[in-house]
Formats: sequence, structure tokens, C-alpha cells
Amino acid sequence: MRNLLQPLVLLLWIFSATALAGPRQAAIASAHPLATQAGFEILDQGGNAFDAAVAVSAVLAVVEPFGSGLGGGGFWLLKRVSDGKEILLDGRETAPWAASSTMYLDEQGNPIPQLSLDGAKAAAIPGLPAALAHLAKRYGRLSLAQTLAPAIHHAESGFETGERYRLAAKSREKALQASPAAAEIFLDHGQTPGPGFHLLQKDLAQTLRRLARQGHAGFYRGPFASNLVAQVRKAGGIWTQRDLERYRVLEREPLRGEYQGIRIVSAPPPSSGGVVLAEALNILSAYDLEHDDPVTAKHLIIEAERRAYRDRDLYLGDPAFVEMPIRRLTSPDYAAGLRVAIRPDRALPSENLSDVGNPSSQGDHTTHFSIIDRQGNQVAATLSINQRFGSGFVAAGSGVLLNDEMDDFAVSPGKPNAYGLVGGDANRIEPGKRMLSSMSPTFLETEDRIAILGTPGGSRIISMVLLAILDFAQNHDPQSWVSTGRFHHQYLPDVVEYEPGGLSPEEIKGLEKLGHKLKETSYRYGDMQAVLWEKQGDTVGAASDPRGEGAASVR
Ligand code: DON
Repeated sequence: MRNLLQPLVLLLWIFSATALAGPRQAAIASAHPLATQAGFEILDQGGNAFDAAVAVSAVLAVVEPFGSGLGGGGFWLLKRVSDGKEILLDGRETAPWAASSTMYLDEQGNPIPQLSLDGAKAAAIPGLPAALAHLAKRYGRLSLAQTLAPAIHHAESGFETGERYRLAAKSREKALQASPAAAEIFLDHGQTPGPGFHLLQKDLAQTLRRLARQGHAGFYRGPFASNLVAQVRKAGGIWTQRDLERYRVLEREPLRGEYQGIRIVSAPPPSSGGVVLAEALNILSAYDLEHDDPVTAKHLIIEAERRAYRDRDLYLGDPAFVEMPIRRLTSPDYAAGLRVAIRPDRALPSENLSDVGNPSSQGDHTTHFSIIDRQGNQVAATLSINQRFGSGFVAAGSGVLLNDEMDDFAVSPGKPNAYGLVGGDANRIEPGKRMLSSMSPTFLETEDRIAILGTPGGSRIISMVLLAILDFAQNHDPQSWVSTGRFHHQYLPDVVEYEPGGLSPEEIKGLEKLGHKLKETSYRYGDMQAVLWEKQGDTVGAASDPRGEGAASVR
């Protein structure tokens, strides 16, 4: 008997070892070469993907200060290979306790221009520092002193900014000028710096050091926190010390869906990403997009988006505050019902065309990175301070640019926000609530392939990830997912936006004939970062969006 058992045990051991074995190489794709490099340095020091994620997040906060940072928040989708645990780390900002649904409205109930976008009153309580401390403590192997070292170095020694920085600063010059501490750091004698500006962030380096030494408490408690609160209040904000003390990151079950045998794992509320993706993909699952003519395929994608984004506006918000029919919205039966009303030969106008918004430019603020390490641990993270340079406000001495994420709430129900999104009651401002997001860090999994992806882009994030998933489903590689031409419909405004080259002249004509209104954006949008591991053959690939200045490598 013993003789029989031994080979069996051996076989089982070999099987479980191969099942657990990770890829031969690690891969990182991020929006900045210095961040990708920092991630690899941490892996080389014996860190895992979660340690690398701390390093990459922190370096992005320094080298892309217009996109994300300690004054903002984000979502980190994690998969830990040792126990198969998949988790969404929710470091989304929260509304201060003194917030109210009328805080950005005048006496007539109209939104006061820019109040939810510029200056200290636009800032919600940051989640990113808490999330980094949590990631390091619960999932990492290295200390925060090690993983924050590259960010501290770049903040302390400075680095040369590029054209993206210049354009971002130019677009937010006024907001930055309004905050003396922000102007001092991010402008050059009060003006947008020219090319080759050397950006030094000594105060931010100190703040990162404090976080490295004290963890969570180094940001949310003590004299640092009191200074933040005092200065925010002096500048018209409503934070209290209690708001910072109360802030917690949350671990959530990811939102899971399925499309043509692909397992989709993405962000649950308070992000709308996973729900909208699942609903749109369920609608599309009955069609043969690959073999349909391109106009029909795109028409169907647009019609699916229209319906899924409508449900975003109607139902979604922070789960701690609103009951949401998630199970119904993501069920195949619900999608089948919606599909009945989709005509292959005609666009159906969105309801309520009177509230048409005018989405502003999106794409080079907020940031995403994707990582797989050699054990097979995975991270997809999308991080944000909302608009470029967030609120533009820096509390002197902190070096931290505060977010303007409050604008992601339905600031004035029925009126579009900065992304043209029209939110409802589910996303109204309430004390301590998390504002609805579109950030969609995503894993895709088939028996052979594992993909990790995401992008910035405001409300267009979800449609970009959707197009990438459809491209993955057609067996294309990461370079194709990040490069594919982009078009987008979000229910309201009732317009198909497309980037230059995103639709062919024939597709434009064909879609117009079906009754769609089309609008070309003045720029190509998105900055997708993607990683792929093909188990058979053990090949790893990574790609950075050609529209950005990111770096993807495999080592
Ligand atoms: O959470 C959200 O949906 C937004 N704050 C994301 C903003 C964004 O992606 C800006 N884009 N480039």
C-alpha cells in the first residue's frame, strides 16, 4: 500500500507545485518610466507584487503629481497566489463630516461654478496614504522604509518634467496660483514652467518619510494632521481632525462577471466600473461581434454602454449608504431583457436629453498600473486626485496636493459633473460617504491567459476597459488592447464620442445612418497599462498606452 501511495503523493505534489507556480518573468506597466523602474527595484530586493505596488503608487504620486498622490485615493485590485485571495482594496476618499448635499449650491440651488473643483473646499479626505500603509502591512514583505525609498528619492532630488506636465499645469494654472504653497512647488515664479523644469518636492519627501516611519498614523494623526486641517479650514475647507482620524481603507469582494468563458474580476461599488462592465458584457454576450460588420458591432457596443451607464446614474453609490440592485443589474436575465429593446438598425435616443452635459478633456490625470510577480501575485491599481492637479490646493509644509474628488458626487442632482455624468440620489453628498467612481482596475482570466489592466479617463474609463476586454476576447495581445481606437457612449449626453482615428470614415457614416450623434474629441484619450501572462508556453507581455509616456517591461 505504502509503495502505491508514494508515487501518488509525488504526483499530487508536482501537480500542486505547477498549479501554484508563477510566471518565469515579472511584468510591470505604469504611466511613468521612473515608477516602472521603482517597481522592479523592489522586486529585485525580494519584495512581492504588493511591495512593488506600494513603490509604484508612491513614485507616481511624485512624478505625476497632476494625476494621483497622497492627497487622493484609489482602488488596488489584488490577487495573492498563496491562498488565491482576490480583494479590492478601497482607498477611495470620503466626504468630510460637515459635508452636505447643498454645499456647492447657491441660494437658488444652482451649482456655484468651480466650487467642487478648485480649492480646499473641493477636497475629500484622502485614502492613498492609508491604503499604502495597509498594503505594506497586510500583503507586503518589505518595510515601508524600503518601498517608499524610491519615491522619497525622486521627491528629494527632483526630476525633469516633460510636455505632459507643462500642459497639465497650464490647464490648472489659476487653481495652482490660488494656493501659495502649490504655486511655490508646481509653478515657476507663479507661471507654468517651460520644458525641462526640475521639480523638487522637499516637503513631500518629508511627508513620505513620516509615512515610512509611522505608517497610517504618520498622515492621519498628530501635528501633521492638525496642520493639514488648520490650513484646509483657513482656505475655506470644512475638514476636522476627526475626519482624518476616522478614515479607514476597506477590503471588498471584487465584482465578478463572465464573458465568452473569460472570468472578469473588477471593482465593485463605490466604483461603478465592475457593474457597468458586467452589465454591458452580459448584453453583448448574445452577439457575434467578431464576425459582425464593424458598424453593427460598434452600434451594439454603444447601445450596451448606453443602458449600462444609465443604470450607473440611476442606482450606484457608496454601499454603506445605498441599497443597490447589484445582483439584478449584473444578471444575464436582466441583460436579456434589455437586449430585446436593442434594434440592430437604429439608435435609441437616451431619455431626458435636456440635461446634456459637456464632458471636459480626460485622460492625462489619474493613473493606472499593472503588475505580476514571479510567484503569480497580481495587482491592478487605478489612483486619482480627480482633475489635473486635483483641487490645486497644498497645505503649506505638507507638499501634498489635495484632491477635488468631491465633484464625483452628484453635486447637483440632474446636472452633469466634470465628466458630463448625471448622477442621482444614490450618489448625493452625505457625511463620510465615498463618491461614486469609474475607476476599473481589472483582471481577466481564462484557463490559459491572465490579463491585468486599467486606465485613467474619468467616465470613459469603463468604455475603454470594455473595448480592451472585447479585444482580449478576440485573442489580441496587450499592445493591441492599449492601442485600439476608442469610442464612448455614457447615456447622457446622448452622443458617441470618439478619438481622432477611433472610428473609420465608413464607421462614422454607418453609425450616423443608424441615428447616432457623433462627436470627435480634440485629442486621443486614455493611458492604459496592461500585463498578460500566457501559461502555456509561460510567456509574459506588457504594454503601455502609446498615447501616454508610460513604460512596460518584463524581467
Ligand atoms: O473616480 C473617478 O471616476 C474619477 N475621479 C477619475 C478621474 C479620471 O480618471 C481623470 N482622468 N483622466
